[in-house]
Amino acid sequence: MSTDSRIGGYRIGRELGKGGFASVRQGMHEDGSAVAIKVIERGSLNPDDQIRREIRLCKALRHPNIVPYVTHFVTESNVYIVQELVEGGELYDQLEAAGRFDQPRARKCFAQLVEGVEYCHRAGVCHRDLKLENVLVATDGTVKITDFGFSKQFTNGSPKTVVGTALYVAPEVVLRDGMEYNGEASDVWSLGIILYLLTAGRFPFNRGHIGGVAPGMTLRSKEKFRNDNFRVPSHFSEDLTSLLRGILCADPTRRLTIADIRAHRWFRAGEATTRRDHPATPPSPPEHAEEPVEWTVISVASDVGEEVAQLDFDSTDDEEEEWDVEFRSLVI
Ligand SMILES: Nc1ncnc2c1ncn2[C@@H]1O[C@H](COP(=O)(O)OP(=O)(O)OP(=O)(O)O)[C@@H](O)[C@H]1O
Ligand SMILES: [Mg+2]
Repeated sequence: MSTDSRIGGYRIGRELGKGGFASVRQGMHEDGSAVAIKVIERGSLNPDDQIRREIRLCKALRHPNIVPYVTHFVTESNVYIVQELVEGGELYDQLEAAGRFDQPRARKCFAQLVEGVEYCHRAGVCHRDLKLENVLVATDGTVKITDFGFSKQFTNGSPKTVVGTALYVAPEVVLRDGMEYNGEASDVWSLGIILYLLTAGRFPFNRGHIGGVAPGMTLRSKEKFRNDNFRVPSHFSEDLTSLLRGILCADPTRRLTIADIRAHRWFRAGEATTRRDHPATPPSPPEHAEEPVEWTVISVASDVGEEVAQLDFDSTDDEEEEWDVEFRSLVI
């Protein structure tokens, strides 16, 4: 991907991370402040409507456990989403270094994820790609959710597109291909996968088996796999096992909800670390997410690196359909 060396007063530096569809670079503002800049190449893989949706959602979602949006820029070839820099890296790397977390550490992390996800759901947004790589850790240990590239405002209609990442995606998202699913329940499943990973240091199900349910299985054998089918390491406490059984329940209608998780003994055992320190009501109402996204295409001279002209201005921001363009991070 060709990236400009400067954009809108920011100098673009080293790569911090790379996902499937974007490169995230460190940026330095003229005033000396450091940021992270997500560079998304415009084109058929990343349609503008989809990028606008990501911007609209990360702009609207403001919470201590969500990576804050700063601003964005659009050029002819790329979109640059400027975010606050989270310097502690991905939760993935921390877990890899530790092997696994003890239960108090896992609970502290998990509780913050629950906070962030609950906030999104109250704002009418499901994330749809919760995984260790999309959770960053600040230097003070605060956990922050990022990457709203797959997110969807479910108050506009239930999601049905198969998106997410294999091993984290809920079984109903994959098995009921093309049918509506509950985005909140599928986020809860992914939270369960994360909790299992944090405490066990490995994935709960075999590769290729989504929630232990493999494509092509008969309904009867699927039934057998509805619950209780992940490996329980000997160091798991009874409370932890019971919480995970409730979350990693293949039937979304019987799966624990966020409220159930909050009320669970394992979660409450860390009351001091899992207590809310801010109001449960989202400060930015969902309507905020409807605001049009600024889409001024600027031209960047790569040698001088300065904005030289305004080419086009499009203030309309047509509401997108559920994007069935392709399956992005393809599952199975
Ligand atoms: N604000 C940030 N501060 C520090 N590092 C970041 C920040 N945002 C992202 N990163 C790093 O870049 C990686 C990729 O970022 P992100 O998940 O937003 O992009 P992506 O996976 O390419 O997105 P998409 O799935 O929408 O294509 C992250 O996993 C992380 O390592
Ligand atoms: Mg990502």
